[in-house]
Amino acid sequence: MSVSKKNGYLSKSLGACTGYKATNNRLILETSEAKVEAIVYTPEIIRIRICPKGNTINEHSYAVINEPQKVKFSVKENTTTIKLQTASVKLVINKAAIRFSFYTLDGQLINADDKSFGSSVIGTEVTTYKALQPGERFIGLGEKTGNLDRKGSAFTNWNTDKFGYAVDADPIYMSIPFYIGLHNQLSYGIFFDNTFKTKFNFGASNNRFASFSAEGGDMNYYFIYGKQVSEVIENYTWLTGRMEMPPMWSLGLQQCRYSYYPDTEVLNVARTFREKKIPADVIYLDIHYMDSYKVFTFHPERFSDPVKMTDALRANGFKTIVILDPGIKVEKGYPVYEEGKSKDYFVKYPDGENYSGEVWPGWSHFPDFTNPDVRKWWAEKIKFYKDKGIDGYWNDMNEPAAWGQSPPDLIEFDYEGVRTSHKQAHNVYGMQMARSTQMGAKQTQKDLRPFTLNRAGYSGIQRFTASWTGDNIASDEHMLCGVRLVNSLGLSGVAFAGYDVGGFAGEASPGLFAKWIVLGAFSPLFRCHSMINSKDAEPWAFGEETEEISRNYIGLRYRLLPYIYSTFYESVQNGMPVARSLAIQHAFDEKVYEPRYQNQYYFGHAFLIPPVESGKEFAKVYLPEGNWYDLHNGKSFSSGEHIVEVRNERFPIFIKGSSIVPVQSLIQSTVEKPEDVLELHLYKGTETNTFLYYEDDGTSNEYQKGVFYKRTITYLPGEKKLTLSEKDGSAASRFSKIKLYLHHFGRPKAIKANNSTVAIKSEDYQFIAPVSSFDPFYTVSSEDMKEKNVPFTIIENDDHEIKITW
Ligand code: GLC
Repeated sequence: MSVSKKNGYLSKSLGACTGYKATNNRLILETSEAKVEAIVYTPEIIRIRICPKGNTINEHSYAVINEPQKVKFSVKENTTTIKLQTASVKLVINKAAIRFSFYTLDGQLINADDKSFGSSVIGTEVTTYKALQPGERFIGLGEKTGNLDRKGSAFTNWNTDKFGYAVDADPIYMSIPFYIGLHNQLSYGIFFDNTFKTKFNFGASNNRFASFSAEGGDMNYYFIYGKQVSEVIENYTWLTGRMEMPPMWSLGLQQCRYSYYPDTEVLNVARTFREKKIPADVIYLDIHYMDSYKVFTFHPERFSDPVKMTDALRANGFKTIVILDPGIKVEKGYPVYEEGKSKDYFVKYPDGENYSGEVWPGWSHFPDFTNPDVRKWWAEKIKFYKDKGIDGYWNDMNEPAAWGQSPPDLIEFDYEGVRTSHKQAHNVYGMQMARSTQMGAKQTQKDLRPFTLNRAGYSGIQRFTASWTGDNIASDEHMLCGVRLVNSLGLSGVAFAGYDVGGFAGEASPGLFAKWIVLGAFSPLFRCHSMINSKDAEPWAFGEETEEISRNYIGLRYRLLPYIYSTFYESVQNGMPVARSLAIQHAFDEKVYEPRYQNQYYFGHAFLIPPVESGKEFAKVYLPEGNWYDLHNGKSFSSGEHIVEVRNERFPIFIKGSSIVPVQSLIQSTVEKPEDVLELHLYKGTETNTFLYYEDDGTSNEYQKGVFYKRTITYLPGEKKLTLSEKDGSAASRFSKIKLYLHHFGRPKAIKANNSTVAIKSEDYQFIAPVSSFDPFYTVSSEDMKEKNVPFTIIENDDHEIKITW
């Protein structure tokens, strides 16, 4: 590479392009300094690959699942540039010093290399410098703390076990080297597929560039165009994959604690949920279920008969999830240790000695999950749990964590047969453990969908598992930080994510817990968890009022399952997250990025959730363009800033005009059948809206063979019409009737379903019940918790097209 020496600072640039070859989807640039390629994956996705001289090329990617497609593109060369044009973007390559610039077809600059630096190398570190565009903002980058707009900040990707992390700590558990850039009504993504420690700088301590670099390996990034943020996400998840449909039960409330034991305690907690009529689906066994923290064991006294316990839980409508830690206790005679050792499956030092690090079980070896044989071995072991009646798996500590936080760089991993050091394998270790566990769950439970939860990850993790944001703290700032982390994960392909509701470390006040439960009910993953040696933290442990509030909002979550399940289906189809930062739909609305509004998000397409700290009696919320309604009393709001009252039992939640929200009757777990009538709530708006309503059996993979029930519901405001398309799929709906509520239309003179007049009635509607009057000196008013006289009609849920007009 050519060396530029300035003020004693050495950096190597790519040099000049002396010619090019075009083969299939590839443009191979000739330069004496590196192997440089532009590879067209789709009209919107172009990969830039720069392999400095001396680097060995490894084509394997843990993240990318799709090959370059058959794409038409043209290439034109002149004396200074090579131009590559697809049906969506134009790439201009400067020849004298290789630089890449991406344009829209009508010539707007989307993204360009810094004119002088482009991509360059310092030692083994490769960096690409992108010129900052006027007004440019950056969002995404996965599980990163900090502001929604990442401009002015820098981040490092190195999966880190960070107990009780500060709300500005970086890095924490996951590495997703993908961000979205926004400027001048343009949006694009950059996915830097390099598993070494990477750094991203979005104009931090400089006003010139946004850069991304890696300690080793190649410069290997995908430029991803999308006319809107949602398209960028769709394209990114086309490249790195999407989740499969999760089991319905995993969308219910999941209750965890470090740790519930012995078995009688687990059964007690489960029973208490039922007695108190607080819906729940899952109970977790944290590390104390094991014998001396040895994975694939049960403690002989605490859990002497796991099958009996899981049977009893199942009979009570609960699923059981166990924690799995990768550290295998070094202990003579422990079968997993002996087997792993004899098969040579553990991560090693270069001299062949197995690496030992200290974790929960004491000194431990670590299975090399980057070796396909090891993944198979671990997957086969999952049968141990299945035979005990376990339903789901929780992979923890897989950064990999070891006390001291620094597994040595020189330890070696298989890395799919291309042996490498910890430096390259570290960030994918957790993802490969998740992959192996999912494989095990799939193998053992055959047609039942797996559920795994996982802590560390890399791009593409969404294909294998749900994720949670690790060891947070019971504080307001952590509650808000968790919302931002989940929203950012959603922008980065990870739709199924959540945080420890109530806070892992420390103890929440009743007020904080109540707020957190409300947010958790509107989070993709809804899981309560808390740490050892802290007070009880179940929804009933914070006093009667908080218990009622919890029951109400958890109940609402269960009533909304038809809506939530359909939203998950959308994620499975196109990668759209379930919790959607407002930046997705309102990317160029400045207000969305203001620190006081940046935590607001859409839950699915209809609900706007403004997270509010405990103790606040009023909150300022920002409602973007459109018309809005208060969930509780149906009051109308126009777009703009509003000051709203906050009461724990009456948390501000807004519904967007034109929304279509399917709701079922209250159930105590997803095992229970809801009533036969599906409520469909339509809110008056000015925009045409469609909602893809989706049902299937909620447990099996039959949906992949067409056994589902799906219909598009379209609202046409001008015509006052709601159309339910003919159903698609071979399954029948769970509901034989539809109760359609028309919010804010006034009482219609007549409602017609497929031209026949149907009966109109009306009733007061309430999503959330007010709490009881606990205080003898204060009477709780329920007046603002119902919407008065909402007209409704009940129709048969016919499989044919249904046209409803009023
Ligand atoms: C880690 C996990 C936490 C778990 C604990 C004990 O700190 O992040 O959720 O409870 O280990 O297993």
